[in-house]
Amino acid sequence: MLRNLSLKSTRQFSGVRCQSTLPSLTNLNASWNTLSTEEKQAVYTGIVERQKLNWNELSLEEKRAAYFISFGSHGPRKALVEEGGNTKVFVGVVASLAATAALYFGIRSFAAPPPQTMSKEWQEASTEYMREQNSNPISGVSSEGYKDGTPSGFTQTGHLAHFNLKPEFNTYKHLIGQVILDKNQNIDTVVNKLDTIDNQFRVFPMELLAGAPNYIVTTKESDSVFTFDFSKVYWNSRLSTEHSRIINLFKPFQVVADVMAGVGPFAIPSGRNSTRFLANDLNPDSFHWLKHNIKQNKVDSFVRPSNLDGREFIKSAHKSLKSNPFPETTPILTQKQQKELKRSVTQFPTHPPQDYIDHYVMNLPATAIEFLDAFKPTYTEIQQQNKHNQQALSLTRPMVHVHCFSKAEDKQLATAEICERATNALDHPITPDIDDYNLHHVRSVAPNKEMYCLSFRIPQFV
Ligand SMILES: C[S@@+](CC[C@H](N)C(=O)[O-])C[C@H]1O[C@@H](n2cnc3c(N)ncnc32)[C@H](O)[C@@H]1O
Repeated sequence: MLRNLSLKSTRQFSGVRCQSTLPSLTNLNASWNTLSTEEKQAVYTGIVERQKLNWNELSLEEKRAAYFISFGSHGPRKALVEEGGNTKVFVGVVASLAATAALYFGIRSFAAPPPQTMSKEWQEASTEYMREQNSNPISGVSSEGYKDGTPSGFTQTGHLAHFNLKPEFNTYKHLIGQVILDKNQNIDTVVNKLDTIDNQFRVFPMELLAGAPNYIVTTKESDSVFTFDFSKVYWNSRLSTEHSRIINLFKPFQVVADVMAGVGPFAIPSGRNSTRFLANDLNPDSFHWLKHNIKQNKVDSFVRPSNLDGREFIKSAHKSLKSNPFPETTPILTQKQQKELKRSVTQFPTHPPQDYIDHYVMNLPATAIEFLDAFKPTYTEIQQQNKHNQQALSLTRPMVHVHCFSKAEDKQLATAEICERATNALDHPITPDIDDYNLHHVRSVAPNKEMYCLSFRIPQFV
């Protein structure tokens, strides 16, 4: 019966094909779009019926037509973009963009120019005018060190980030702190420095913006590790280059006296280079952390801490050294050098004891020059005592490196101004002609405030 049905269907479709009004199956995919809906339906039904037969009985055309009906590109399978369509899309997009641009510039050409007050010149002129009027002199445009703009950065010391926010950002300060905390995995505490430092120990008053109130930080400088309470001592990462410059002036086994040593940024790395060091600071907290850092960096035999006023220290350091000289010392060795020494039969050379000072360092730029007055009586006496001795130059005339600020406009003016201040304090002429004179520009601290380091050899007083 199935066989009979199949034959009947074949005949029926053959019949459909033979009638001149019904479409041909030849090249059906090309002619499909030209067929009417009834013709398409007739072809579809005929092909479906033919496929119910044995497939070997289908002609090649019928098989191709069957494939086209099932998988060809018509109906929902029709390609979205027909051949040559990409070019049309491209041309359309370019034309639309051109039309948009023409519309934009057309409208702009009729618009009024930006207001005069928006120009850079106008804004600079109005800032200048406010300065002339001395507007907002405490924290605003006329204040010392004022800079335009929003907070753009913070300084990080150990786990602590510190800002110097202007008062106009007070409303957002905790939010700013929280953002810094959230965005930096290695920051746990964010603080705002409240003032410029004007206290004796150069410590910033600060407020907590976000995170834990933990101010004990650990940081690295010159290959040494420093731990200290950031809220109680002076530390400035911007001085690291100056610290290295000064440290490089010292030779192993020389003796250096740092009158205002802080937590040891000159002393500890120098000790690690086997330079002997007297490190003094009046701030008891600096003294505490200085001792901690000496231990932490294992330089106990090279760095001796003290907690005196700078003047007293200058007057007494050479005496305490005379009664307790640095002993004969071997250098601090790296692990590699220690291993080599163990293997070799020779002894590493030791250095003889020393009871005099080769260099003084005085980094308290606001007032250190005034401390020079302690040198004249001290070294007049030493020079008297050693008048007839052929001694090392440093014994009677050590080097002094004293930091200071200057408001002078250029280095020439600064030279004159700083030499005059040093001359007055030392009560002896200090000029660029004296022995081992050098005036080094350290950094610009604020507009109109430059930091310098004056170096010279103590003059012959006697
Ligand atoms: C600007 S800090 C420099 C600290 C360190 N030398 C450095 O380079 O980071 C000045 C230091 O001088 C100390 N100081 C202030 N007055 C002092 C005085 N009369 N005698 C000794 N030290 C003093 C402060 O405690 C502070 O640690």
